[in-house]
Amino acid sequence: MDFFKTLEERQSIRSFTEQKIEKSKLEKILKAINIAPSAGNLQAFKIAIIEKKETKEKIASAAFGQNFISKAPLILVFIADEKESAKKYNQRGKELYCIQDATIAATYAMLSATALGLASVWIGAFNEEKIRKIIKANEGLKPIAIIPIGYAAEKPKKTPRKNISEILFKKMI
Ligand SMILES: Cc1cc2nc3c(=O)[nH]c(=O)nc-3n(C[C@H](O)[C@H](O)[C@H](O)COP(=O)(O)O)c2cc1C
Repeated sequence: MDFFKTLEERQSIRSFTEQKIEKSKLEKILKAINIAPSAGNLQAFKIAIIEKKETKEKIASAAFGQNFISKAPLILVFIADEKESAKKYNQRGKELYCIQDATIAATYAMLSATALGLASVWIGAFNEEKIRKIIKANEGLKPIAIIPIGYAAEKPKKTPRKNISEILFKKMI
């Protein structure tokens, strides 16, 4: 899919069919994630891949009962690796760069999913500690986004956006 068409096509989908995701598509998504830029090229993030029904249900419950999450055939949890980034960048690595690394990676995943005809949604509302326990992540591994992925079972109306002029800090500096 053309890149700008991919950007336009992506929208949050919260209802998925039961169709599983082909292994080849998951591999393409992971390859795309792996070429994302990162601070100092440290790639200070990890991804938990969740396909088991009971784990998905636990994840949905830790996301304040957003039950549609458990209906997606695949869930990716993006985790910032604070220690990895702090080794080189200290506090800034821990508080900012690893989160940015994981965020960029999650964005690559979403756009790749769209380009492959899949749908996704960014889930940011969750209890961090509960998610850490479910995926068995040690301290220093901070879950930052849950991305359920599957085939869309809905086609919602597009959400509105601000005018470009409103997102510019100053028209010209
Ligand atoms: C940081 C972040 C957190 C979000 N958290 C949630 C969430 O917990 N649950 C949810 O249903 N959607 C969540 N969303 C999706 C947004 O609601 C959605 O992206 C926004 O309304 C724009 O709609 P669109 O994605 O269809 O363009 C989140 C998006 C972002 C970027």
